[in-house]
Amino acid sequence: RKILVLNGPNLNLLGTREPEHYGRDTLDTINVRLAAQAQAAGYGYDTLQSNAEHVLIDRVHAARTDGTEFVLINPAAFTHTSVALRDALAGVQLPFIEVHLSNVHAREAFRHHSYFSDLAVGVICGLGAHGYELAMAHAIRLLDAKAA
Ligand code: DQA
Repeated sequence: RKILVLNGPNLNLLGTREPEHYGRDTLDTINVRLAAQAQAAGYGYDTLQSNAEHVLIDRVHAARTDGTEFVLINPAAFTHTSVALRDALAGVQLPFIEVHLSNVHAREAFRHHSYFSDLAVGVICGLGAHGYELAMAHAIRLLDAKAA
């Protein structure tokens, strides 16, 4: 039983990238916390960051048969552009939570639309890196409830 965390383009730069929008935590720091959270609850943890759309799509496809039961995804700029990544998530039928560090609704109009939100269990935005931890807590709660 595994929880998969996917991060899209430019999130490898977290820590130094526009910290006024995205905070100062690095992706490694975030992943260490999320892995500990998942493991403490008895779930496996896997994560991938990619700047390439097809790599994220292929990882979503693999999740269908690798024991993944829940996905947390920050599609980053692909949020606003990628029908293909949306279709991949719809295709594997895995539940997912959409996470954004920044409050996309307080920013440019092109960030207000997401190709993912209507398929997501829920969406968290604007809470910085804490948003991933809140999403993880909710994923664990849902999986625990499913097992009970
Ligand atoms: C983001 C918001 C997107 O609009 C942007 O393209 C990103 C990061 C966020 O986490 O706030 O790269 O998904």
